[in-house]
Amino acid sequence: MEPIEKIKAHYNFTTGDAANLKQLKPVMEKYKNEFPMEFYHYIKTFEDTPKFLKDEEIIRRHQDGLKQWFMDLFSGEYTTQYLRDIERIGYTHVKINLPAHYVNAAMHFVRQYCLRILEKEFCTDINECRYLAKSVDKIIDINLDVITSSFIEEEIKTYFLSEKVESYLIQFANRFAYGLNLILVMGLVIMGIMVMGLFAYDVSHIFSGDLEKGLLGTLGSLLMMWVVIELMDTEVKHLKGGKFAVKVFISVALVAVIRKLLVATLKAEALEYQLSLILIGAIAVLGVIYWLIARVERMEE
Ligand code: HEM
Repeated sequence: MEPIEKIKAHYNFTTGDAANLKQLKPVMEKYKNEFPMEFYHYIKTFEDTPKFLKDEEIIRRHQDGLKQWFMDLFSGEYTTQYLRDIERIGYTHVKINLPAHYVNAAMHFVRQYCLRILEKEFCTDINECRYLAKSVDKIIDINLDVITSSFIEEEIKTYFLSEKVESYLIQFANRFAYGLNLILVMGLVIMGIMVMGLFAYDVSHIFSGDLEKGLLGTLGSLLMMWVVIELMDTEVKHLKGGKFAVKVFISVALVAVIRKLLVATLKAEALEYQLSLILIGAIAVLGVIYWLIARVERMEE
């Protein structure tokens, strides 16, 4: 929590405001017994109030606490001890799992209640009334700020039970994933070089007189080169923060099966013919999947 002096400065809470509130104390004293009653009259409309204020003993303690808190608003002393007291009130409500919304709504009532008293008791001079109302507004806002901060801090705590260890782990996992991605890029570069070797080998068949094998093989190795380029491109985009591209993996499978089909067509045996049929079926299935993914991606764009 911020130090009290900083909180006061952020709300532009001056010594003039403290003096204003102190000036209100004798008047507010008259209402200190009525306040908890009116407060209860207001919060009894909340559906879950009976769940929290279960019995006479709790209600009595709460009303005593409310009375003390109400009078402290006008004590004129807003020190670190005052901040600790409001923080304690905040944590008491966090501990009983009271929805923060209930505290906000109840604080709305307190604001209206105080303004009503001001109107009733100080409205002879409108400017003075406004000045006093501003100071009341500020102290209620400070209270609301501190109490609701307890709720937020508790929420953060449940998410970060061991904040240090968790952030170290996340950092490590991030770096490790980045390192693996770099290895992947290097692997793809090596693959690219090897595919270039395969391409040269397939071309050599053309010159050695086996034109059909050479041409189909070259076509296959060119397709593989295209796939490596696609993979590399996708990986580089991914490293730069792009989204994961499923389509490219389907295209890799598609190209691998097409290449296998090209090789199979070179052999005219019965077994190879059956294999070709299976490969054509696989290409059709992969083609449909590729088309569907491409369609979804286009629609998303
Ligand atoms: C402006 C809003 C509220 C203020 C200023 C306030 C004030 C307080 C104070 C001063 C205490 C005693 C804390 C302590 O000494 O540690 C307390 C406790 C408690 N409050 Fe509130 N309260 C507010 C809203 C509510 C609401 C809306 C509910 C329920 C619907 C509620 C239920 C309780 C309960 C159950 C306790 C614990 C009582 C006990 O077992 O001693 N409070 N509150």
